[in-house]
Amino acid sequence: MLKNKNIVLGVTGGIAAYRAAQIARDMSKKGAHVYCILTKNALNFITQQTMETLTGNPAVVDMFARPDKWEVEHISLAKRADVFLVAPASANFLGKMAAGVADDMLTTTVMATKAPVVIAPAMNVNMYENPVTQRNMRTLRELLGVTFVEPSVGLLACNDVGKGHIAADADIIAAVERALGKKDFAGKRVLVTAGPTREALDPVRYLTNKSSGKMGYAIAAAAARRGAAVTLISGPVALEKPDGVHRVFIESTQELYREMEARCEEQDVIIQAAAPADYRPAQVAEQKIKKTGDEPFDIHLVQNPDVAAMVGQHKRPGQILVGFAAETQNLSTNAGKKLLKKNLDFIVGNDVTRPGAGFDVDTNIVTFYDARGETSLPQLLKSEVADRILDRVLELM
Ligand code: CTP
Repeated sequence: MLKNKNIVLGVTGGIAAYRAAQIARDMSKKGAHVYCILTKNALNFITQQTMETLTGNPAVVDMFARPDKWEVEHISLAKRADVFLVAPASANFLGKMAAGVADDMLTTTVMATKAPVVIAPAMNVNMYENPVTQRNMRTLRELLGVTFVEPSVGLLACNDVGKGHIAADADIIAAVERALGKKDFAGKRVLVTAGPTREALDPVRYLTNKSSGKMGYAIAAAAARRGAAVTLISGPVALEKPDGVHRVFIESTQELYREMEARCEEQDVIIQAAAPADYRPAQVAEQKIKKTGDEPFDIHLVQNPDVAAMVGQHKRPGQILVGFAAETQNLSTNAGKKLLKKNLDFIVGNDVTRPGAGFDVDTNIVTFYDARGETSLPQLLKSEVADRILDRVLELM
């Protein structure tokens, strides 16, 4: 993946700067051309010469020094980057980038790049958890689609214990490879369901729910980007069809059931992010229902089939089945029950009452539940959650 790719590696001033040396070396060994940009403060922890020796390329600090020798003025580096990695990124760097401050080589270059940006923050836990830092990271995600490689929890250099320790080298390099467009789903058939259903009451009325389809569409887009042959079975939503995806529209849960019955066995992976209605009106009036005086109006509902349970019954060996559980209470217990009942490999649970999670927003806060237990992810863009779900699917395969 990294062979002959140009990676610009920004290094900021923090004790984790020494780790940039190993990351640069590992990427170079995998065949990447690594170009380092250090901030002035980074020089307190690591030298230009270290990075130049390890990468075989110039490492720059000053915008105006040595341009003839190395031909590395910031625009040319910004253009050359296939991926722009900043590791470690300090709170100061995140603040400057989020505010659009471009006052040194690193910030001017990162602002000028069109390449995907991957950032591995590392700092004191209180600085990391400071709402200003968190807001800056949110801004960078939302405005620029920056990918963050979350720091881990551990004993920090300042002797505090908490989140702020730079992520593992392998995780940082994996994020760079993903940003380069790793085709790790090549040859796999992936079916994704998305959006709500509509259960007709009469020719003009229906029952539905708040599902926006965004999570399922993000999964379909990510799987296609990663090389899968993707079928997206979508309820009625107004989202653009992701590139390279075959889309089939359905309206009701019964229609979804029929589509899934016909298609489920040939798939390698099935991810059911749709929110099929559990009930439908027992009768669909042929004509528009009219008001009759002041009488209350009762709708009699009958149960729809459980699509995921049917898919679970048809599961073939090696196939991976993923379900969702959108809950407003008792997430963990409910997700555990659904895992068993629907014969799923794992459930992506979200508490839709939390801000930043659930319907119609671009972020989600999810927990994976499987036979081994639970793994909680932080608030991420739905596109990032999609990649994490696919990473987990690959692990299970
Ligand atoms: N699901 C399904 N068919 C249904 C209802 C849900 O296939 N009739 C799927 C959803 O796509 C999701 C999972 O089952 O992947 C869980 O959906 P959810 O609505 O959270 O659960 P239900 O099974 O409907 O359970 P409950 O109504 O008790 O919450």
